[in-house]
Formats: sequence, C-alpha cells, structure tokens
Amino acid sequence: MKLWKKDAVPDPRVIEFTSAGDRTADLRLADWDIAGSMAHSIMLGKTGLITTAEKDELLRGLAALYEKAVKGDLIIEEGVEDIHSQVEKELTDLIGDTGKKIHTGRSRNDQVLVDLRLWTRNAIDALAMNLERLFNKLQELSEQHKDKLIPGYTHMQPAMVSSFGLWFGSWAEALADDLLILGSARAVIDRNPLGTGAGYGTSLPIDRKLTTELLEFSSLLYNSAYASLSRGKAELAVASAIASAAQTLARFSDEVCLFMTAEFRFVDFPDEFITGSSIMPQKRNPDAFELIRGRTHILQSLPAQVSMLVTGLPSGYNRDLQLLKQLIFNAFSEINECIDMAAVMLENIKINDNIAGNPLYNQIYSTEEANRLVKEGVPFRDAYKAVSSMIGKKVFEITSLSEYIHEGSIGNLCNEEVGKLFLERMKCFNSLQSGELIAAMLKLK
Ligand code: ARG
Repeated sequence: MKLWKKDAVPDPRVIEFTSAGDRTADLRLADWDIAGSMAHSIMLGKTGLITTAEKDELLRGLAALYEKAVKGDLIIEEGVEDIHSQVEKELTDLIGDTGKKIHTGRSRNDQVLVDLRLWTRNAIDALAMNLERLFNKLQELSEQHKDKLIPGYTHMQPAMVSSFGLWFGSWAEALADDLLILGSARAVIDRNPLGTGAGYGTSLPIDRKLTTELLEFSSLLYNSAYASLSRGKAELAVASAIASAAQTLARFSDEVCLFMTAEFRFVDFPDEFITGSSIMPQKRNPDAFELIRGRTHILQSLPAQVSMLVTGLPSGYNRDLQLLKQLIFNAFSEINECIDMAAVMLENIKINDNIAGNPLYNQIYSTEEANRLVKEGVPFRDAYKAVSSMIGKKVFEITSLSEYIHEGSIGNLCNEEVGKLFLERMKCFNSLQSGELIAAMLKLK
C-alpha cells in the first residue's frame, strides 16, 4: 500500500531498498505519530475543515490504534512504506471513509518532522534523567573519598596533590555542562513543525497555534521552508549534545583504565566486574570501561555523520533525510547503555587508600613548599628557585599538606554548589509521555 500509488506497479526492489529500514525504525514513532494525528484531527475539527462528528470518529479510531501500539501489536506491514502510511491505512480500515480525511492539510514530511521532534524531546528528557543518576553517583563518591589524596598529573607526570574527591567531582561537573548542552538541544527540538506540509505550507486555513498548544511545544517552527531545512540541523544539535556527554564518558573511562593498571592501582573492581583472558590466568581486565570508551569514541563522530548526510542537500524534502532517524535512535541507545554500565561499575568501584603517601610521589608537594615560603614573605620566584635547588640536590622531603581553602580545590570541593547548578539545569526537562499528551487531548472533547 502506497499513499502515492500511481498506475505503474513499483518495482519491489526499489520499494524494499527505500523503505525496508523504515519499517522497523518507524515503529518507535508509532505512539507519537498517533499523538500528532490526534492534534491534527482536533485542529481540523476546530477550523471546520472536517465536521465535529468526523473529528470524533478520527479520535476514536486513533485512540484504538494507540491501544494497539502500546500493546506492541501495531506493525508496519510488508508493502507499507512507513508508520505514517500504516496509521492512515489502519485508521481507514477501522472507521471507513472518514479515515481518508486525516491527511487534509498535511504532508508526510511535516508529519515525520513532528513525530521525530516529539520522540526526540522525550528521549532527551530520559537521557537527562540518566545523566542525573550518574552525576549523583559521582558526587556521592567525591564526598565519600574527599580526604583520600592522589597525585594530580600534567603531561602525564606527577604534578600536584589531588584527591579522589576532586577527581570524581571533576567528572560530575563535566556532566553538568553536558546537561546544559542537552538543554539547548531540547530548546531547538521543542518547536512545532506540523502544518508546514512539504515545506511550502497549505492553502487550507489550518490553525498551527492550536496544534502547538495541543502537543505542548514551546512555540511554532514558523517558516515552512525552514521547517524542512531544520531536519539535519535539529539532529546536529542533538548529536552534539550526545557527543559532549560521550566525550565525558570516554575520557573518564580512559582514566579508569589507566588507574586500574598494575603500575597505578589507584582503583580496582571486584572480580565479578572484570574479565579475564583465555590464555593468561592472571589477567583482570577492565573490559566494561574499554567498551564504554570505544563506543563513546564512535559516538563522538555522530555530529560529523549528521553534517555529512545533509551536506549539499537543497531546500525541501530529500529522501536522504530518512537516514538521520537510525543515526539518532541508535545514538540514544548507545549513550544510555554506556551511562548504565558506568553507573553499575561505579556502584562497585574500590578505592585504594594512602596512594599519595608513596615516596614515588614525594615531589608533588614541591609547589606547596614554595607557597609555604611565600606565606613567610619570600617572593614566589625566589621560593620556586629555593625549592627547585633542593630537588636538584635530592634533599627535598615531603612537608605536611597545607590547607587548601579556595573554591574548587581539594579542601573546598563545592560539591553542594555544583549540585545546585545541576538541579537548576535539570528544570527544562519534563519527561512528557505520549500517553499523557493523548489522554489530555481525548479529555478535551
Ligand atoms: N519515511 C520518510 C522519512 O523518514 C517519511 C517522509 C516521506 N516523504 C516522502 N516524500 N517520501 O523521511
């Protein structure tokens, strides 16, 4: 069944190639497609483009299809191109000729845009909650281990005194910035393209403000031609946000792998959480973090893939755009699975005590010794030279740890402030489900 059926019978190989991926990918959009269709039906009724009785019939049919979708019974049949065609077909089978009016004043192009924006808005909200879980765990570990010192590195050489508190807290604050970026991607997504048709609007007197309210978008996506161009730009915003969180996870995992080496042994995991080798009996490998690292490295190429896909595409719909769907769906699954695994590992991480007491790290206290002299009134450059000469003569000894009082230092982590920042940035996410939107629209009658 093709909505665009012509006299010639389409070659099945062309149909298979152009729609095979969509028949599975589009199932994720089913509930949102139905929600969008309900808003569209209510609008058609309100504007008088269909009668109230017809609007009620459409809503009844769509509500039945929603039940079917929730049960997992809605499938895209062979020969049907996508979810939009399937919903229209089943609606017409269910309620008869009125079903044929559902596509009044819309195109599959604005329909897929609205479906994707609704789906993505919800996926962004779920991702934000997942990031929050990981953030909370990192903050908890930071507080719990704030007095455990480790060397801090620059150029991969021991540099200054750090702590597990500072280390865990640094990844938590990185997630707070990832959340901010995710929030801006959400703001890009949260605008209503429904009614922009195939990119050139419609000569029918539709009411776009009404569908914007019904679907709880923050505003309209105004320009019809831009609505179509926005496919690719919206995905780029989302891809960049996912890539940013992926970068945090990748670098964190990388450092966990380093800290778990025999040479470092700063952290460890119970045997249940590491893997072994088929040939070397002694091996204890951090495969979970290696795979988080690998998968998040791949995810960081997502913005480039999205950009490449739309490079050179002229205004209006081009079928290439359909490939964005799988990229974005897959990226959300990937990032969430990596976050979940990182959270499991962090529940079980073991911290080795007294690392900074190892004579190997003696010299990480040298800047502190210079600062001690500064406090006695010695100009910093002279203090630096004095300590440097002690190091040169190999007479430098660890002095006791000085006080660190400024914000963001090992003695004053500001975890509470970072926690507040995170909560503030969580406010733009609301986890609106398709069922809630649909229930609200059905109540309007
Ligand atoms: N499956 C299509 C997509 O995701 C839906 C829009 C199809 N429009 C068209 N003119 N062929 O892009």
